[in-house]
Amino acid sequence: MSDHYGDFRTYDKPSIDNRKSEPLQNNSSQLDFNDDNYLQFCTNKQKEAFLACRNSQTITSAAKSLGATRSGVRSHLRNIKAKAISGGYVKSTSSIYLVPKAEIKPCDDFNINAKLDSLAGDYHEYVKQKRFNMIVTSAQNSTPVHVNFLANLKKLSNKIKAKILVIPFRYKNPTSVFVNNAKDYWDESLTPYLCEDDFELCGNLSVLGQLKSQPTAVRPLSGLEQVTGDKSAIIGHTKLELKSVATPSNKMAKLLISTGCCTVANYTDSKAGYKGGKRHSLSAIIVEVDGDMFFQRQVIADENGNFIDMLTEYKDGKTLPAQQAQVLSTGDLHAINADEQAVSATFFANDSMLKYFRPEWMTVDDSLDFQSCSHHSRNDPIIQYHLMKSGLNSVENELKITFKMLDDMETDHTKIVIKRSNHDEHFEKWVKETDPRRDPLNCRTWCEAFTAMLDGHDPYEYFAENMMQTFDDVRFLSRDEVFVVGGVAHDGHGDKGANGSRGGLQSFIKLGCPAQWGHSHTAGIMDDQFQNGTNSKIRMGYNVGPSSWMHCNTIQYANGKRSLLFIINGKWRFDTL
Ligand SMILES: [Fe+2]
Ligand SMILES: [Fe+2]
Repeated sequence: MSDHYGDFRTYDKPSIDNRKSEPLQNNSSQLDFNDDNYLQFCTNKQKEAFLACRNSQTITSAAKSLGATRSGVRSHLRNIKAKAISGGYVKSTSSIYLVPKAEIKPCDDFNINAKLDSLAGDYHEYVKQKRFNMIVTSAQNSTPVHVNFLANLKKLSNKIKAKILVIPFRYKNPTSVFVNNAKDYWDESLTPYLCEDDFELCGNLSVLGQLKSQPTAVRPLSGLEQVTGDKSAIIGHTKLELKSVATPSNKMAKLLISTGCCTVANYTDSKAGYKGGKRHSLSAIIVEVDGDMFFQRQVIADENGNFIDMLTEYKDGKTLPAQQAQVLSTGDLHAINADEQAVSATFFANDSMLKYFRPEWMTVDDSLDFQSCSHHSRNDPIIQYHLMKSGLNSVENELKITFKMLDDMETDHTKIVIKRSNHDEHFEKWVKETDPRRDPLNCRTWCEAFTAMLDGHDPYEYFAENMMQTFDDVRFLSRDEVFVVGGVAHDGHGDKGANGSRGGLQSFIKLGCPAQWGHSHTAGIMDDQFQNGTNSKIRMGYNVGPSSWMHCNTIQYANGKRSLLFIINGKWRFDTL
């Protein structure tokens, strides 16, 4: 008889609880047959072989009970062992069996609720300061911490003088590969940082430590919009997400943020667990508070727990200067309607993001607004009157202002990419749809653009070539032109979704590759999709009522990980850092 799976005969399967106390003699497989955790690594046939070994004294008798050969049973055990090792089991110096790689060390007398109560007071005191920094992440119960990530977070905490806060959450995982999963404890190295209270970091930002979202929740922030009133909030979750939520027009949009976590992936053997594991994020949120104003940014670690924050790399518990950032992806510009403080903080101030990071690339979305002759307002006599009165109805004038702003961005360290965007295309639409004889102010520009289009040029790029001093140093992307840096696609504006549908993070997460978007002026993170806010004015005339728009760009570090960076009152961080 061969040892192929198909040659097993049916038999009475041994009960999982009908265990022999005597170990299998000559067990060289290093598998503990009384440990059900190995069953997660078994196919059905391997499970039968495993359980037969549990109930037998020898491989021979196990094989006999299955009607299989000894080599067949050994083959199954070898395969189980291989899968256990790839699943995190290692040889042990203290046991003849394989053991989980990262056995956690629970503190036997650890009373989680008592600890949390006492530590919460510490945090309540800390946030009474006017100016402070905090690093917020989360941790799963009965699961090892990622040791290197925690070491790096501690280093970060020292460097930026931030208190670490770890929001504990519970997850019942009967198929955990880690030991003692029924007990209510967290890795003891996290004890000084645990706090599961709700409390305010400032008047505009709360931590919702009591809110427990399942780690397998696909959208951890969904349904929380009403929970926090008009305040922003951070919740603990294994996934990193951010959502900008519209508030009444007299208030700034609020942010909902989930942290990612500092424990290793530990999910159930199920579809939900599998999906959760794929989006497990080793990450934390840095919060800088001054009075009621706050800034936040993300630190996302690689699989080794190393990360970059600002200009510093945190690697194996040490710091070193970070390599050049890959991309500064900037929120929509709408040059003639750009917000003065936002573009200063992004491009032009001495401590602007562009000058601070000196990235290899910088992308610009919706660089042209085209309010001068936009189809949105072309037939609105009131808007046209005001544009004419202020001289803003000249296409040529708007092009000059736009290209001057792009010229002024030029640096010797960063290559600029103009992403093809819907507002740039308003120019082309104007040429195609309007009659120049009825618009004497713009008829020469129209004629030149029309001729350029007949010659196969894009009118915006054509005028850029003629009017921009730095045109040769700038790259204009066309629609569908691929531009990927560090594994992240930076070529899409965000207005167009799949098969002609409208864009949006909810649809982009299905694309299956990390990407960076603009267009909506609404910052967000969903899985590996990041969306900028804007550098335009927050009120553009056509967006009335509640708004989720905020000034926000994205920095992509040398390791390909990204962070959203918000601009508030012309600042994007506090000067003390
Ligand atoms: Fe835009
Ligand atoms: Fe747009």
